[in-house]
Amino acid sequence: MEFWQGVRRVGFGTKRLAGSGGGTESRTKAVSLLRRAVDLGVNHLDTAAFYPSFASGGNHRSFESLGWANEAIREALSPSGKEVLVATKVGPQPGGLARPDELQALVEQDLQALGRDVVDLVYLRQTGLESIAEHFGVLAQLRDKGLIRELGLSNVRAEHLEQAQQIAPVVAVQNRYGVGFGRVNDDLIRSCGEQGIAFVPFFALAGASREAGGVAASEIVQQIADAQQATPAQVRLAWTLSRGDHVLAIPGTSSVQHLSENLAAEFIHLSPADIAALDAVPSD
Ligand SMILES: NC(=O)c1ccc[n+]([C@@H]2O[C@H](COP(=O)([O-])OP(=O)(O)OC[C@H]3O[C@@H](n4cnc5c(N)ncnc54)[C@H](OP(=O)(O)O)[C@@H]3O)[C@@H](O)[C@H]2O)c1
Repeated sequence: MEFWQGVRRVGFGTKRLAGSGGGTESRTKAVSLLRRAVDLGVNHLDTAAFYPSFASGGNHRSFESLGWANEAIREALSPSGKEVLVATKVGPQPGGLARPDELQALVEQDLQALGRDVVDLVYLRQTGLESIAEHFGVLAQLRDKGLIRELGLSNVRAEHLEQAQQIAPVVAVQNRYGVGFGRVNDDLIRSCGEQGIAFVPFFALAGASREAGGVAASEIVQQIADAQQATPAQVRLAWTLSRGDHVLAIPGTSSVQHLSENLAAEFIHLSPADIAALDAVPSD
């Protein structure tokens, strides 16, 4: 059975949990938003020790090990008893990519902040490596030790996936992807589908705005949204999901209204003509 069976098509990314403008003061709000998400059926949370992160006034706070979002998840889930897949990512550090011998401590930090004995899914979130074998090998050992249940890869190309698969099974790939954004990943998405690997797109809403957040503006997306009586965010998510049953969305939001809207995107039906028009939006 594939890893994503039973995982809702639209999950939740915690990068924007404190809003897109900055600040980690609204912990109570974050916990209640996460609880609301789980109440609405979200059973896939995508997180990292360095979330939230955002671009604010040109200052991009990035990769500091805050544990903030992970602790909010711990608090939000502790009384619920609901089964929720929690996926974290390790690799990026303020000074660059972590060394292989630093990865175990990062996974242990995640476990502590999340209050778990095992992380359901850990992505190696790489940058700049030609070979990920050494880093991924360490995560495979942590999986063998029982600290990690499943392994994923983020920010990778097809050759990285092949390198990892020589070492241990990969259940999910997380790369940037959306309407008119990151279409360089089209072949990788197809290949993941053929191999039973989940593809988890990030920046599916923000697109080329990336860290700045918001929903990327597009005339064609707006036209289809108007015709569907939907929002541009919903059309973007629906198109992303149309790429295959193995695609799991993880939109990030700090808003209850946006959360509900994003979850409803799962039920929007795009016609073949809509999909063709969205396919044709030039990619960055
Ligand atoms: N592996 C990686 O390298 C990597 C990189 C980036 C992100 N990620 C993961 O992917 C997730 C998604 O990326 P993201 O959160 O950066 O970007 P995103 O989901 O593409 O877009 C989030 C932005 O859109 C806004 N938004 C969300 N829903 C909306 C709606 N229905 N209507 C209007 N605006 C809406 C949010 O602001 P509001 O708060 O106002 O809703 C936020 O500014 C992250 O949370 C994180 O888990 C992974």
